[in-house]
Amino acid sequence: MVVVLLTALIVVFNTIAASSSFDVPILPGYPGPLPFKLQTGYVGVGDEDERQLFYYFIESESDPVRDPLLFWFIGGPGCSGFSALVYEIGPLKFDHEEFDDGLPSFVLNPYSWTKFANILFIDALAGSGFSYAKSENGYASSDTIAAEHNYMFLRKWLLSHPWFIRNRFYLGGDSYGGKTVALLASEIIKGNEAGLEPQIRFQGYMIGNPVVDEDKDHNEQTPYAHRMGLISDEYFEMAKTSCDGEYVNPDPNNKECKYALQLVKDCIQNIYTAHILEPSCGEHPGIRRFDNDPIINSEEHRPINVLKQERQFCREDLHELSTLWANDLTVQEALHVRKGTIDDWVRCNDSIRYEKNIQSTCKLHGLLSKDLHILVYSGDHDLGIPHIATLKWVRLLNISVDEQWRPWMVNGQVGGYTEKYGNNGASLIFATVKGGGHTAPEYMPKECFAMADRWLSSYLL
Ligand SMILES: *[C@@H]1O[C@H](CO)[C@@H](O)[C@H](O)[C@H]1NC(C)=O
Ligand SMILES: *[C@@H]1O[C@H](CO)[C@@H](O)[C@H](O)[C@H]1NC(C)=O
Repeated sequence: MVVVLLTALIVVFNTIAASSSFDVPILPGYPGPLPFKLQTGYVGVGDEDERQLFYYFIESESDPVRDPLLFWFIGGPGCSGFSALVYEIGPLKFDHEEFDDGLPSFVLNPYSWTKFANILFIDALAGSGFSYAKSENGYASSDTIAAEHNYMFLRKWLLSHPWFIRNRFYLGGDSYGGKTVALLASEIIKGNEAGLEPQIRFQGYMIGNPVVDEDKDHNEQTPYAHRMGLISDEYFEMAKTSCDGEYVNPDPNNKECKYALQLVKDCIQNIYTAHILEPSCGEHPGIRRFDNDPIINSEEHRPINVLKQERQFCREDLHELSTLWANDLTVQEALHVRKGTIDDWVRCNDSIRYEKNIQSTCKLHGLLSKDLHILVYSGDHDLGIPHIATLKWVRLLNISVDEQWRPWMVNGQVGGYTEKYGNNGASLIFATVKGGGHTAPEYMPKECFAMADRWLSSYLL
């Protein structure tokens, strides 16, 4: 046993040499020195460290020694951690109103979670963000491989930043990151129990509009569309009866069901999935200019006398700023990105080689460990993973209800609704974020800031 442990330690220590970290005092796009501590670097995982995973680490702006350490996962799979940093919970955000075709610039995000936590953002797969592999094999991953590698990354990162080993440790993630977080949580618990170093002071995790069981999550889109007034009572009844509640994998020979689902689809296909109230700007990558906007330019949709300046805000245009910024060579130099490793940075790599080999992580959330605290939040305007899908599996965990459904407040206003489940000192809180979309902090920054701050300090909302 001791020999095994020692060998494991030696392996870990030997490979620290292969990881690197750099302080980043200034960033193109932000005037003057950054008013927070940013570090970037790589940690090698997998056979012979063939996968070089890039990270952004930002120290808490309050008390880095006592504040928790939050390891954040974004979805996809294949999205860059930078997206969560700049659009969700990090200290910088793009100044898109001032954008005029040059290098996008930043302003500070007053609702950065770095006001109360140290946050580690990762480009979690080779082929995502600035992470790369030294061999073709290193680009293939899966739920199980990623869980193992994320755990290896974490151990190595902590061993090379030993002063953070004593901080309370949390995981967090949105969307597919919810699945990643559950699987990594399970690795951490197993590793801690097996006595692996470093022992991680794992307290719990928060997941937002999480993927838990994709088919079941998506099956709630139809009932959700009905509740939100996107489809009529008649269409919903027809779909429910003829498809027998199965909307994702319906019987292909069931013509009535097929017909009903087509009616549903026709009603929601022009709805922006990530937030049903925002404009849908089509699926085409790249900054969508007025002139080649297929929707606006088609004859039947062309609004009379619409001026270029009146074009609506598209969330995707804002996302495109990250692509412009991260592909700038001065930016890559400032971030200490290794030369020649990345041809083209994309916010989310849709052609990542990733096998979704674990169908459901539902049970993990109920059985993980007695003394973990879990926050499951849902932007309630997301059609992708609707809050009712999440609430459904939460209820199926059969944990006793500690506190019934009630509003939670921010500055005297309802931030959303919450329910608390308890299980011998552990807790699971479900919370909606009223008005939030798929990545709730991106849409409701003030509310999510309050939610995360409260939960991390008291496990209450
Ligand atoms: C996306 O992932 C694939 C497979 O991992 C990789 O070959 C490709 O280079 C990545 N694309 C970008 C733009 O990074
Ligand atoms: C909770 O109870 C339901 C109904 O009895 C059962 O189908 C389900 O598997 C249970 N969930 C867990 C996590 O045990």
